[in-house]
Amino acid sequence: MTQNDLYSVEITGLKKKFGDFEAVKDISFKIKKGEIFGILGPNGAGKTTTLNMILGLLRPTSGKIIIEGYDNSSEGEKIKQLIGFMTQETVVDSYLTARDNLRIFAKLYHIPKERIAEKVNHALEEANLTSFADVAAGTFSGGMQRRLNLVKSMIQEPLILILDEPTTGLDIQSRVGMWDEIKRLRSKGITIILTTQYLEEADQLCDRIAIIDHGKVMAIGTASELKKTVSKGNMLSIKVGLKDRTEVSKILKSKLKLDFDEKDDGLFVISTEDIQLDRLIKVAEELKKNKVEVHTIGMHLPTMDDVFMKLTGSSIRDSTGDQKAGKNIAKMGWGGRR
Ligand SMILES: Nc1ncnc2c1ncn2[C@@H]1O[C@H](COP(=O)(O)OP(=O)(O)O)[C@@H](O)[C@H]1O
Ligand SMILES: [Mg+2]
Repeated sequence: MTQNDLYSVEITGLKKKFGDFEAVKDISFKIKKGEIFGILGPNGAGKTTTLNMILGLLRPTSGKIIIEGYDNSSEGEKIKQLIGFMTQETVVDSYLTARDNLRIFAKLYHIPKERIAEKVNHALEEANLTSFADVAAGTFSGGMQRRLNLVKSMIQEPLILILDEPTTGLDIQSRVGMWDEIKRLRSKGITIILTTQYLEEADQLCDRIAIIDHGKVMAIGTASELKKTVSKGNMLSIKVGLKDRTEVSKILKSKLKLDFDEKDDGLFVISTEDIQLDRLIKVAEELKKNKVEVHTIGMHLPTMDDVFMKLTGSSIRDSTGDQKAGKNIAKMGWGGRR
């Protein structure tokens, strides 16, 4: 064991192959003690596979994982005691009460018999489920089940909590409630590693974010650091009628000498300089002169959307919307790419 005061988890050159398919290609990152570290990526990016290797459930094809100073290839038993885990699926037994679900878990984690009742009561309180303690968990709402799940993974008082897509499928209110719970755990000094497909979740909740796609780390940093890599100041976005796309490309490139990203739906984004009002006016005048059908035009500071666009070249808005998750949350609409 090698002690490190700064980092809770250190991952170097992690790879995982399933047959010929490399699900995790080359992942390295360090997670600081007490931070909320988000692994952000679309479906199939390799998030769960990475977590399963950190948990010791899957053996890496190559690479090194150090957790609280312990090497996970040889000191797995010690590590197991330090980590709490909430899977992507809700795993509460529907027929058992909230209390019994927790009791069973406490036994699994070898909590001494005489301490179980007290621990379970405390967990019920934390989950705000005391008045539902003796109700079958199957009757709970999605948010209540998720809260039960969360305190369940905390029952052995881990140093590190790993949450695989803790808010996927939750309605917006439950999602925000879960964020508050996760922040409360951070304030107790627990290191939290979570995966997410939601840009806004990474932006609002995580202290640092690793963006992964196709099994590779594309970028790591705080949300504001990541945004600054796109633009240090304002960006200009212009949405035009589809028939005018070619014309607008020409105007921006040849006449105005501006570099831009162009999206399929007629959205042009310029991030090569800090855009000021006089620049916006010049662009607008040029478009008007050429009778371009302008739907919207405006300046905005870079968003996580822009970060994604820059790193992967793909837009991340799910045009079909995510009913359950609430429409105002940006979700990567990349399911089924593989
Ligand atoms: N046991 C497995 N055998 C073969 N392929 C797998 C296995 N587990 C995951 N994969 C594949 O690895 C890729 C990454 O999966 P996963 O880590 O679950 O992604 P994510 O959690 O980011 O959605 C996917 O293409 C998935 O189909
Ligand atoms: Mg997953």
